[in-house]
Amino acid sequence: MVQAARRMLSAKAEQFTESVIREMTRLAMKHGAVNLSQGFPDFAAPREIKEAARQAISDDINQYAITWGAKPLRDAIVEKFERTQGVRVDPEREITICCGSTEAMMSTMLAIINPGDEIVVFEPFYENYGPDAILSGATPRFVKLSPPDWTYDERDLAAAFGPHTKAIILNTPNNPTGKVFTRAELEFIRDLCVRWNAYCITDEIYEHILYDGAEHISMARIDGMRDRTIVINGMSKTYSVTGWRVGWAIAPPEPTAAIRKVHDFLTVGAAAPLQQAGAIALKSPQSYYDKLATDYTVRRERLLKILTSAGFTVFRPHGAYYIMTDISGFGFPNDVAFAKFLVEKVGVAVVPGSSFYNDARDGATQVRFTFCKKETTLAAAEQRLSLLPEHLGNR
Ligand SMILES: Cc1ncc(COP(=O)(O)O)c(C=O)c1O
Repeated sequence: MVQAARRMLSAKAEQFTESVIREMTRLAMKHGAVNLSQGFPDFAAPREIKEAARQAISDDINQYAITWGAKPLRDAIVEKFERTQGVRVDPEREITICCGSTEAMMSTMLAIINPGDEIVVFEPFYENYGPDAILSGATPRFVKLSPPDWTYDERDLAAAFGPHTKAIILNTPNNPTGKVFTRAELEFIRDLCVRWNAYCITDEIYEHILYDGAEHISMARIDGMRDRTIVINGMSKTYSVTGWRVGWAIAPPEPTAAIRKVHDFLTVGAAAPLQQAGAIALKSPQSYYDKLATDYTVRRERLLKILTSAGFTVFRPHGAYYIMTDISGFGFPNDVAFAKFLVEKVGVAVVPGSSFYNDARDGATQVRFTFCKKETTLAAAEQRLSLLPEHLGNR
């Protein structure tokens, strides 16, 4: 008997590729390139935080933490969220600690999405949101943010919402654009969420990396949104520990109960000693956060200057640690060809713009640089990019 061909792999997994961003880091290593692609700092994490992690292991905090998170870290999150955003949440019913904000986002999506549900996603978007939608079964509705200010058209946004909208994914401060959403923009989004009874899932992982006096306003703080906002955050960017994999979701009790169940069976829990260290990190004085922003301001200026001198059109970010650039002046067929040339011939790794768009053509004239790097790394990039005209001439 002839058996019908059986699909041996998941149809969902076939719908997306490996992460382009993480692939660029591998290419950077292969070609010995300066890596300005993936957003991880190449400088040391704060000494006190590393010491707290060492201490936690010595103190034998080495077994599973409570699945939804160690109590000291949940308490520290409550205290910090209230101090910074003026919103008080319940550590027993409204917080889930996960393996990075990546898992917090995925657990949230799996916890709230049903077949037929739609999510609204601003574009360009952090590349994880695409696979998050596919794996959870949500249908994304994309809304463009337009350069140079990355504003959205209110009519486009309103048109993307409808009776099937389960949530909008917001990321402010934004990767890759550096946009920081204003109160007026958040209120416009609020009105749509209320009208269509939708959640706002807000990725606030860059909350402390702000420039030019920009203020981070959490959607949870906007009138009427406390009960429909799910805040995604983590230690990675604020404390320069992307490899620790500690993140969290702050959500009202009902979605939290669902998120906790999904999280429990996905990962059980984030590393217990690092959660303990997280509780110490979150108690850092305001001066720590001020210095973080000041240091990033210096790096932003440095990279803006390097890129401008090398002939890139730059979009000045107001938050996060990326610079989107326009490369149309260099005459390449697309962003991927340019990124390949840059990593192989010039020795600088960047992320092709298309990895932030649903339709690759929309990102064909853009590439993203990161500046979460030490001065020597930026200086090496400067030196290599100064040779760009020569390499272009030899093409
Ligand atoms: C917007 C955004 N969200 C989430 C993440 C991943 O965060 P985590 O390390 O907490 O999983 C990143 C990392 O680049 C990011 O840019």
